[in-house]
Amino acid sequence: MQALAKKQPFDVVAFREEFPCLQQQIKGKPLVYLDNAASSQTPRAVIEALEHHYKADRSNIHRGVHTLSQRATKAYEDARLKLQRFVNAADSKEIIFLRGTTEAINLVSQAYGRSRFQEGDEIIISAMEHHSNIVPWQILCEQTGAKLKVIPIDERGVLDLEAYEKMLGPQTKFVSVVYISNALGTINPVKKIIDMAHAYDVPVMLDGAQATPHLKIDVQHLDCDFYTVSGHKMFGPTGVGILYGKAKYLDMMDPYHGGGDMIRKVSFDKTEYAEIPHKFEAGTPNIAGGIGLGAAVDFIEQYGMENLFAYEHELLQYGTELLSQFSSLKMIGTAPEKASILGFTMDIAHPHDIGTILDMEGIAIRAGHHCAQPVMDFFDISATARASLAPYNTKAELDALAKGLEKVIGIFS
Ligand code: ALA
Repeated sequence: MQALAKKQPFDVVAFREEFPCLQQQIKGKPLVYLDNAASSQTPRAVIEALEHHYKADRSNIHRGVHTLSQRATKAYEDARLKLQRFVNAADSKEIIFLRGTTEAINLVSQAYGRSRFQEGDEIIISAMEHHSNIVPWQILCEQTGAKLKVIPIDERGVLDLEAYEKMLGPQTKFVSVVYISNALGTINPVKKIIDMAHAYDVPVMLDGAQATPHLKIDVQHLDCDFYTVSGHKMFGPTGVGILYGKAKYLDMMDPYHGGGDMIRKVSFDKTEYAEIPHKFEAGTPNIAGGIGLGAAVDFIEQYGMENLFAYEHELLQYGTELLSQFSSLKMIGTAPEKASILGFTMDIAHPHDIGTILDMEGIAIRAGHHCAQPVMDFFDISATARASLAPYNTKAELDALAKGLEKVIGIFS
């Protein structure tokens, strides 16, 4: 029997070296980048893929017979295949390139819901949604007369599934929930949520913006009907992401944008649309971005998402213990299943002041409502300070965060 290959321990020093932006000082101190939920850093491999496109293959795709166009088209379509494999979609035509999660949710709400929903219909979201999974549904409700129902959360930031069960019924037409909350870090039991909705034949969309950089995603196992990815949170370029949708839904949906590349035939009498995914990809897309996102997938796969997450989870536990030693600090988001997010308030200082003082120490966190104002309302606060992790962070950086918070206490008390 062949000996099993020995699993290599994750080498954070080597991993970190792949990220040029991290190798700098801010205000004379080494940069401690803890704002990964807003946007992660970009590894050299992704920067090189973008550079290669612009230096060697720069041209439009799907339209040219010339060599550059063919090379760019192949690189772009190869990236689609990488994304298909990455989320384990059944077919590459179920992968639509677009700007990211916000555009994906707007697309589905309009292209699926606008012509189907009517007065009396209900759409279920949760109380921990990002604004991007609230506002598009509110717009749709205004347009169609449908109503929004909201699954409540408890003080830890855990969804109330009993309340959800009671909400489901023949009037439910759609469920759209976040997989990992950007404000709380809660990992929601999405498989259960999906199975419960499917018992009523209701399609489910997952906002995967925060989950995709941290968990191994298998859309077929989850059986979600739609799934969203934002490239810039998973080491990819900004302004590019994907919508995964089951072909049976994408095929029946109306187009979202009209224009070039999404048609089979246009005349003034009638236009026939292209097959999916092109039906939803009007206009010249973010070609370099799509190729760069494919490179981000290669980069992650080289290390293995499970290895990255295991390391990052250790960091989360370490950070949680460190922060819990501050008596003036309250953690916001204490669900037992959590990823990446250390959100907190301090009774002595506003989150913006905390963020500003930490910046003086070279530490980047986000302070604010994190585009999740209903979450802030639930906790009766206007904002949190939020440190969010990526696998290039270290325990030493979390120690630096704790030291920075001691400075905050020193200044304000
Ligand atoms: N949604 C991003 C965040 O959580 C921008 O910071």
